[in-house]
Amino acid sequence: MVVAKIKVTMQQNDHRTIILGANGMLGHAFQIVCPQALFFGREVDITDEAGIRSLFRRLQPSLVINAAAYTDVDGCEDHSEHAFLVNGEGPGYIAGACRETGASLVHFSTDYIFDGDKEGYLESDPPHPINTYGQSKLLGEERIRETFDDYRIVRISWLFGPDGRNFVDTMLRLSKEQETVRVVDDQVGRPTYTRDLAAKVLLLADEAPGIYHVTNEGTCSWFEFARHIIPNVLPCTSDEIHRKAKRPRCSVLLNTKTAPLRHWKEALAEYLTLLGREPRER
Ligand SMILES: NC(=O)c1ccc[n+]([C@@H]2O[C@H](COP(=O)([O-])OP(=O)(O)OC[C@H]3O[C@@H](n4cnc5c(N)ncnc54)[C@H](OP(=O)(O)O)[C@@H]3O)[C@@H](O)[C@H]2O)c1
Repeated sequence: MVVAKIKVTMQQNDHRTIILGANGMLGHAFQIVCPQALFFGREVDITDEAGIRSLFRRLQPSLVINAAAYTDVDGCEDHSEHAFLVNGEGPGYIAGACRETGASLVHFSTDYIFDGDKEGYLESDPPHPINTYGQSKLLGEERIRETFDDYRIVRISWLFGPDGRNFVDTMLRLSKEQETVRVVDDQVGRPTYTRDLAAKVLLLADEAPGIYHVTNEGTCSWFEFARHIIPNVLPCTSDEIHRKAKRPRCSVLLNTKTAPLRHWKEALAEYLTLLGREPRER
């Protein structure tokens, strides 16, 4: 009953909803679940404070959803200045323009703001990032929170879905190219389907401001995830695979505030079907 009411509100407001980062993987999911919104890709640079302000003044949005970010986790180690500008200052500029025009903001943060030493992280747990990407995303959270109150910061993890670089597509490609694919079995998290997430976020926009953890249900290692995608996969440890950025051992986001999404295995099965593939295990 309540959900139905919220859906009506969102439909009425769609024409005043702006989606930034519309050509990214998550941005594309919003094009499916919220087609009446106004979508902006790279032509709106979130590090251009004056440009963002002038766009919002002109369009007078009631809701802004920011899916733009610099998401190359290893690249952030080499290009930290750029990472802090896009992932840290950019969200602050967007929040400032929202405050000026009276818009609410939904912004995405990451499981990588945590160090991975706990078995799971509550919305209230203190962040402690161990790589530059996580540090830059945490700065983005801080810039928003110091600018105004009308935000929903949605922390998410391990995204997969159409129209973007993601683990599922990478596994399918490597499975064809290599005899066996080695995948780490000592990093644990929660895979999340972009379309489930985007639909949920539209409902969250009408919930109380604050920080939310939203993922599909169920926890697994990258290896366990891969096992449900391809047959020729073997486990390995993080030490065996050299990556520039350190990854948290456990980055499970615990959602204590909203109704849970379905299990990742169900969501993965839907995505594989969309790709014309059979899920390997249920
Ligand atoms: N993917 C994950 O597993 C994951 C996990 C946790 C959190 N997140 C967060 O979820 C959000 C969406 O991630 P995603 O996977 O959809 O990322 P994505 O596919 O990399 O999309 C991000 C988009 O932002 C654009 N962008 C980069 N710099 C920009 C700038 N200065 N101004 C405007 N646009 C800019 C990118 O354009 P170019 O491609 O042209 O650079 C890209 O289209 C991000 O906030 C990310 O940090 C993602």
